[in-house]
Amino acid sequence: MKKTYKCKLILKTELCPGIFDYVVEAPEMAKEAQIGQFLHINCGGRTTLRRPISICDAGEGFVRFAFQVKGEGTAELAKREPGELIDIMGPLGHGFELTPGEKAVVIGGGIGVFPLLRLARETDCAVFLGFRTKELICMEDDFNEANKNVTICTDDGSYGYNGFAVAAMGEYLMDNKVDMIYCCGPTPMLKTVKQIAEFRRIPCQLSLEQRMGCGIGACLTCVCETKDTGMAKYKQVCLAGPVFKAEEVVF
Ligand SMILES: Cc1cc2nc3c(=O)[nH]c(=O)nc-3n(C[C@H](O)[C@H](O)[C@H](O)COP(=O)(O)OP(=O)(O)OC[C@H]3O[C@@H](n4cnc5c(N)ncnc54)[C@H](O)[C@@H]3O)c2cc1C
Ligand code: FES
Repeated sequence: MKKTYKCKLILKTELCPGIFDYVVEAPEMAKEAQIGQFLHINCGGRTTLRRPISICDAGEGFVRFAFQVKGEGTAELAKREPGELIDIMGPLGHGFELTPGEKAVVIGGGIGVFPLLRLARETDCAVFLGFRTKELICMEDDFNEANKNVTICTDDGSYGYNGFAVAAMGEYLMDNKVDMIYCCGPTPMLKTVKQIAEFRRIPCQLSLEQRMGCGIGACLTCVCETKDTGMAKYKQVCLAGPVFKAEEVVF
């Protein structure tokens, strides 16, 4: 059984309206946390099921995560104030697999950028981050601190590269050879990145989102269809994922 911890909220920042950045005291989870894994959080209030939120960063005694208020659970979580304890299970799931010495592209969109911060810092990569518009850009300073080659893209051209992050990545790949693409974002982005990776024969890892119940492989709420060694097979996103090899994923 995965451990749960009562973690003290030590820093709370509202990154954009309705998007919060939390740092919690969590020395044991910080030691274990792998890039791309997630936390299962008891948000409190009337919600009984935990909600999955990606680990954004982890360091000396702390774990950081960021979330957008979507419904009841995340709205309840957003009411927490520094000093309060949050009930967190984790770290859970299978994260990104890194290969030493590889040259990579890291691409994310919207709230999908959060689990990519450590990849941006810890791999030799070019980073492409997509947002709908300037007001929704999150963690630009953190990414620029983590990596010297970050391109911010906006769908409406209000800031940075004018257009989708996948277009910016496509241009980069015309002139640069890479060994791996790491992606987390909305489904249309995941699909396009998978197609580009297949066309260019670049290995690729995708982080998937799925509604979850238990978060630990006991309820089957989170199953998705995968192509394991060519055969269709249902896998639990909470155990086998959230990160999968792109060739395994069936959209
Ligand atoms: C592995 C994983 C990592 C995640 N990481 C993050 C993160 O870092 N930051 C972040 O903001 N969100 C993240 N999410 C999404 C987050 O879990 C949902 O937004 C949250 O559970 C919604 O709960 P709620 O009670 O606020 O909303 P609910 O009332 O449960 O639902 C509100 C709306 O959100 C939709 N929804 C609920 N759960 C999910 C889900 N899992 N995926 C997609 N849509 C959902 C519902 O269909 C509904 O439209 C992640 C999800 C997964 C599976
Ligand atoms: S959420 Fe229960 S099996 Fe994955």
